[in-house]
This record gives sequence, C-alpha cells and structure tokens, in this order.
Amino acid sequence: MFYGGVVATDGARETTAGAAIGVRAERSHDGTQIAAVAEVVAAAFGPAEPTIPALVVALRSCGRYPGSPEPLSFVAEVESDVVGHVMLSFCHIDAWEQLVPALVLAPLAVRPDLQGRGVGSALVAFALAAAQRAGAPAVILEGSPAYYGRFGFVAAEPLGFRRPSLRTPRPGFQVRRLAAYQPWMTGTVVYPAPFWELDCVGFRDQALVEQIEAEFG
Ligand SMILES: CC(C)(COP(=O)(O)OP(=O)(O)OC[C@H]1O[C@@H](n2cnc3c(N)ncnc32)[C@H](O)[C@@H]1OP(=O)(O)O)[C@@H](O)C(=O)NCCC(=O)NCCS
Repeated sequence: MFYGGVVATDGARETTAGAAIGVRAERSHDGTQIAAVAEVVAAAFGPAEPTIPALVVALRSCGRYPGSPEPLSFVAEVESDVVGHVMLSFCHIDAWEQLVPALVLAPLAVRPDLQGRGVGSALVAFALAAAQRAGAPAVILEGSPAYYGRFGFVAAEPLGFRRPSLRTPRPGFQVRRLAAYQPWMTGTVVYPAPFWELDCVGFRDQALVEQIEAEFG
C-alpha cells in the first residue's frame, strides 16, 4: 500500500486553502455518501491499486470492534462533499497471554486535488480519538513512517510486534499505542479476512520491499 494542520473534532476547521473541513462518522446506510467514498478512494489510490475500493466495502461488513455497533469509518467533507475517508478495522494481537483486540487503520484516502492541505491529518487524528474512545489499546498500520510518525506511530517490531506478512516492509509496520496499551500486548498482528481475501497485505514485489527497507531502515 502507501509509501509514498488540522486537529480533527466533529466540527469544521479550515484547510490551508480556506475551505472548511468537517470530519465525522460515515453514514453507512446513506448510499449517496457510500458511493462518494468509493469515488474518493478510487481516485486517491488510482489504477495501480484497483482493489482498495472493494476492500473498503468488505471491511464495512466484517467484524466490529467489541462494543462498536457501527463500522469505524470516517469521512472528511468540504461543503458536504466527501473529500477524504479513513477506516479502522477490528484486528487481533496474538500475545502470549491472550488475543488482544486492536484496530488496523487502512485505507486512508484524500481526493487528489485536495491533498497536502491537512485533510489526511484531520482524518488520522479523528480516527485515533475514536480508537481511544472505543478502548482499543493500539492502532496498527502499514504505511510511510515519514507520514505517520507525526501522529505518534512508531516502528512496531522493536516493541515485540510481528508483521502480518513477510511482504510488509519492516519500517512501514507501525503502531500507535493508546491509553489501554500495556507492554505485554505484543505478538503477531492478525489482520481481518478482507485484507487477505483481496490480497491487500504488503507488496508482492520483493525488490520493492527490500528497497523500502533500505531507504527507511
Ligand atoms: C497519504 C494521504 C492520505 C495524505 O493525505 P493529505 O491530506 O495529502 O495529507 P496532509 O495534508 O494531512 O499532510 C501533508 C503532509 O503529508 C506528507 N505526505 C503526503 N503523502 C506522503 C507520502 N506518500 N509519504 C510521506 N509523506 C507524505 C506531505 O509531504 C505533507 O508533509 P508536510 O506536512 O511535512 O509538508 C493522501 O496523499 C492520499 O490519499 N494518498 C493516496 C492514497 C494513499 O497512499 N493512502 C495512504 C494509504 S496507507
């Protein structure tokens, strides 16, 4: 997947271009909004990653984080147009003591013409606040440390986590520890089924993984 200033609340802030951004829970029963999310995700990831919109659909209907009746799926809107989207999905950390429920943050998408204006940051901040409220101990992801480090994500392997796949570049495998985290909560991260069914974990290009590891390692 991805290598490559706004603090979110459930209200409006300004993009650097001056337009108000609101970040809020997706209305999962609103077909128009769901279609708009699919459009934004497809535009952000482009033809190189055609399965990501299907991943969003599949993740919406896979298992909920304990105590969360709705999917943890969030939209950024400018003047009621969807311009960004992020999703948190229920995963497990296979710790020695017990399976630990946690959340995986993916995918994150911002409409290409509005990238670089704080929309992605607002979505990540909003998602982390929601994860905290849900009581999750950790949010895990695969992505660029250059981007996610600013939100408190750190390399997960040095803390004892194991990558879901050998094809996930080590530096991209990151965790954001939340208030409920305890140091024993490490182990293999088990992603929910849609990531596997749609082959959305890591890269199939070994040379690319090695290149990323050399660059960021
Ligand atoms: C990655 C993405 C979500 C960021 O959203 P955004 O709204 O453009 O990001 P923000 O405006 O909040 O942040 C901009 C900062 O992120 C950095 N950034 C953006 N894309 C980056 C990338 N691929 N790698 C590293 N840093 C990146 C910018 O350089 C900028 O840094 P600065 O603040 O130091 O100038 C957006 O570019 C996107 O949708 N990309 C395509 C889909 C994708 O790759 N999603 C991530 C999946 S894990």
